[in-house]
Amino acid sequence: MEDIRLNNGLTVPAIGYGTYNLPDNEEGMNAVISALGMGYRLIDGAAAYGNERMVGEAVRRSRIRREELTLTSKVANPDRGYDSTLHAFDKTLSDLGLDYLDLYLIHWPADKAVYPDWEIVNSDTWRALERLYSEGRVKGIGVSNFMPEHLRALLREAEIKPMINQIEFNPGMQQPECVAICRGKEIVVEAWSPLGRGRILGNTLLEEIARRYDKSVAQIALRWEIQRGAVPIPKSSNPERMKENMDIFDFSLSEREMSDIDGLAQFGNSGLSPENIDAHIAGKS
Ligand code: A2P
Repeated sequence: MEDIRLNNGLTVPAIGYGTYNLPDNEEGMNAVISALGMGYRLIDGAAAYGNERMVGEAVRRSRIRREELTLTSKVANPDRGYDSTLHAFDKTLSDLGLDYLDLYLIHWPADKAVYPDWEIVNSDTWRALERLYSEGRVKGIGVSNFMPEHLRALLREAEIKPMINQIEFNPGMQQPECVAICRGKEIVVEAWSPLGRGRILGNTLLEEIARRYDKSVAQIALRWEIQRGAVPIPKSSNPERMKENMDIFDFSLSEREMSDIDGLAQFGNSGLSPENIDAHIAGKS
């Protein structure tokens, strides 16, 4: 597995392990320890997942050297803004029990429907990330769920360009315009929900390609994402599927297979989108 180089020179593993929805208890900890034991070195987390103490404890119990790991967190939506982001970062570090993070992302852009000043809110939050980065408290900074308009507005104000944009990305949710902008700005796309929360698993084209390589549909989807330059972060609490999701570096999809997958009908987002996130969280939608 080759590492991916970000626009500031930092390298990150080509695939990560997602901790969204993992319970904040022994069961969740065993899942993270299994993933680390299997070779996952990029662990994707967030304050909003409510399990950072557990993730930190799993990392310690794994006894893997800190510098071998790429540990990620994200600023939760209620903490957007300059001062509150700095406080949120301190809390995340303390919950994880770490003295630095590898990647820190803005979890969601401010929702236009709720924040008329969404551009300012995003820029203020970004300035806090720039400060944390300049102070060496985080090795790379980025955004998540930033669509083209959010990226363009942020890039107009930013002193440091984001290194990552983590978006919902899989063969049924390809977001080509957003991916193209990221590529043009040398922003690496990380793919959340890389298996479409299971919705791509019955797709007949993917099934046909999977048979050709003696792989699973999940492995074909993850391979397509990697060949499109994205870093997928599949989540699984099942050790066999965790292993299966990493076993995608011994084959390549052809140009033809890649473009056939590009042409798949799109099934849209999982229900969470930058267009409704704050209203959703406030219980308004
Ligand atoms: P499980 O935890 O039982 O493995 P996504 O990452 O797109 O959000 O999808 C996560 C969902 O897909 C989880 O419900 C997870 O269930 C399931 N999943 C993860 N890996 C695989 C796989 N290789 N094959 C089938 N389902 C998978």
